Amino acid sequence: MAEEKSYKYVIIGGGVAGGYAAREFKKQGLKPGELAIISREAVSPFERPELTKVYIDLSVNPTLASIYCCAGTGEEKQYPHWYKQNGIDLIVSTEIVKADLASKTLVSDDGTIYKYQTLLIATGSTCIRLAEHGIPEADVKNIFYLREIDDNDELSLAMELYVQKGQAVVIGGGFLSLEMSSSLKANNHEVTMVFPEPWILNRFFTPEMSAFYEGYLINKGIKIIKGTAVTGFNTNSDGVVTEVKLDDGTTLDANIVVAGVGAKPATSLFKGQIEELNGGLKTDGFFKTSVPDVYALGDVATFPMKMYGEMRRVEHADNARKSAGHAVKAIKAAEEGKTVPDYDYLPYFYSRFFDLSWQFYGDNVGESVMFGDTDPKSPKPKFGTYWVKDGRVVGVFLEGGAPEEYKAIAEVARAQPSVESLDVLSKEGLSFATKF
Ligand code: FDA
Repeated sequence: MAEEKSYKYVIIGGGVAGGYAAREFKKQGLKPGELAIISREAVSPFERPELTKVYIDLSVNPTLASIYCCAGTGEEKQYPHWYKQNGIDLIVSTEIVKADLASKTLVSDDGTIYKYQTLLIATGSTCIRLAEHGIPEADVKNIFYLREIDDNDELSLAMELYVQKGQAVVIGGGFLSLEMSSSLKANNHEVTMVFPEPWILNRFFTPEMSAFYEGYLINKGIKIIKGTAVTGFNTNSDGVVTEVKLDDGTTLDANIVVAGVGAKPATSLFKGQIEELNGGLKTDGFFKTSVPDVYALGDVATFPMKMYGEMRRVEHADNARKSAGHAVKAIKAAEEGKTVPDYDYLPYFYSRFFDLSWQFYGDNVGESVMFGDTDPKSPKPKFGTYWVKDGRVVGVFLEGGAPEEYKAIAEVARAQPSVESLDVLSKEGLSFATKF
């Protein structure tokens, strides 16, 4: 007969939201055996953004221990023994394959049945495959995706194998591709980025911002091919990729291909059971879904973004951390017949590669104005962008800032001060934010 286990709280997913939810449960008070985290990955929850920044970069001799949650916020690191010490069952290498929310029952890939009183869904995102973009990739070896620890380890092995003769093609022009290209280059691979859009990060960066980053990457020796789609691959007799075929009829030599072509929320287990919106699981301002006692956190949640009066889904680490903390506070408060204020999130995301580092707060809508030193050859480039909508500053980006400057731009994005004109922002530059 199948083994059955029963918990007060079950978290599906041991990623960023899972790790931070565990931390908040511990803070709020947890009895031994009340909480289980069930995760497909074989390791304790870690700071996923570090996969492309630190953990993949063999030149810095990375260790997983350095990126366990909650390293990202500078709090106590939750090593595997932390979960044991706090009476939390961390069940790794285990995938939930069936969820029946009506009977509060989950079934894992080894047939174990898990019963819960309250469920927290923190299943994150899965990579969109090249095949989903119509690019045939079946049976081609050395095409890598990067989402989970196993993906990272497979890619690391290939990077070690080809380190003296690495020819990497990175498909996609988003954050992940940018960070991966930098890490591959730092590990002595020849790198070409290729993507169909007209400039890198085109959904977020203005063309002027991209011009800086493209210039910087080109100076580092990375080749960038824009406005060009990948159509397929050539392989050797072992099925290992040798060339990437492009829609202009040319080919690129390659022995490693990294595909950073998007991600989608991992919600398939709950199809037809939980109301969805914008591709995610719809929640209220406490991360409660349409099903009683079921919460959704992190990448999978479409929640009310109070500042903008809109329902949004956010695929960034900061929201994964904060939504997890907020949901657990709301769960614990409700048990005592209390409430917490509803979630009031200021969008924040960041990236780092080579010597560059930036942060962004708010919304990138409306008109934009850039300020500062945007020369990609500068030894210490420092510049930013304001976004202005209806006469108010609604978003601020800063490259190369100091901690107090990042704090200042966050305050501006939250307060949305009015501004006379774009010229004022352009002239005042960062001082508009720091004097605010
Ligand atoms: P997350 O993906 O972290 O965790 C989901 C977990 O659920 C995984 O452990 C998965 O195995 C598990 N799971 C899924 N289905 C399951 C099932 N059926 N059974 C059991 N377990 C299951 N953000 C940012 O702000 N700045 C950045 O620089 C970056 N950089 C970055 C790099 C890379 C390589 C990636 C992949 C992502 C980023 N991000 C980022 C995005 C950020 O990492 C992401 O938003 C958070 O990890 C989301 O946290 P979640 O906990 O929602 O999902």
